[in-house]
Amino acid sequence: MATQFFIVSLLISCLLLTTINAEETGFIGSLDRNTLGIKKKDKISHFRFFFHETFSGSDPTTVFVVPSLPQYNSSSSFGAIGVMDNTLTVGPEPTSKVVGRVEALAAAASKTEFNLLIFFNFILTEGKYNGSTITVLGRNRTNLKVREIPVVGGTGKFRFATGYAETNTIFFDPQTRSTIEYNIYVSQHY
Ligand SMILES: *[C@@H]1O[C@H](CO)[C@@H](O)[C@H](O)[C@H]1NC(C)=O
Ligand SMILES: *[C@@H]1O[C@H](CO)[C@@H](O)[C@H](O)[C@H]1NC(C)=O
Ligand SMILES: *[C@@H]1O[C@H](CO)[C@@H](O)[C@H](O)[C@H]1NC(C)=O
Repeated sequence: MATQFFIVSLLISCLLLTTINAEETGFIGSLDRNTLGIKKKDKISHFRFFFHETFSGSDPTTVFVVPSLPQYNSSSSFGAIGVMDNTLTVGPEPTSKVVGRVEALAAAASKTEFNLLIFFNFILTEGKYNGSTITVLGRNRTNLKVREIPVVGGTGKFRFATGYAETNTIFFDPQTRSTIEYNIYVSQHY
């Protein structure tokens, strides 16, 4: 019993010492949640919107800027990199209400199938979310109907956010345009 107590106190003092030493250096400090304006318990929200890519014409919204390596054909397109700047709408019709933009980078990152490493910043413009962003980073397995990609963070209303996005191709013609559905499930602390 005495030994156990001794070991526990030793552990506690070690922990205290580490914390104190770290704080003394000014390198790390603990913060009260209120200092950061986090008042409510985090809730989970569901955002649903669509974006519309154009691949052709004089002003495409999605462009391939780096071609794939010559030894890889279109079944993997390994090495290809694209950039996009697309409007987000509430409905699948390009003419429906605009709620934001998505600025993104995608790279064909598999040698054996067409899989994309995607890095998406969703910039919302609607109501209290105007100016807040959600960042989604992960793997787009293009051969799946619904693809799951992690939410890695955000700004504004989405500070400290985590969650995931599900994306679904509604329409896709590589020569002309696409419509992609996004469902984002994200924790909100603000
Ligand atoms: C691409 O290359 C792979 C392996 O070299 C081959 O099996 C496949 O048939 C090719 N696909 C196309 C679309 O050319
Ligand atoms: C969003 O904020 C910008 C900059 O403050 C403003 O110009 C714009 O009108 C706002 N948009 C909406 C839909 O409220
Ligand atoms: C995933 O890949 C498909 C097919 O290339 C594309 O239409 C869609 O925009 C991609 N989605 C994301 C989130 O990159």
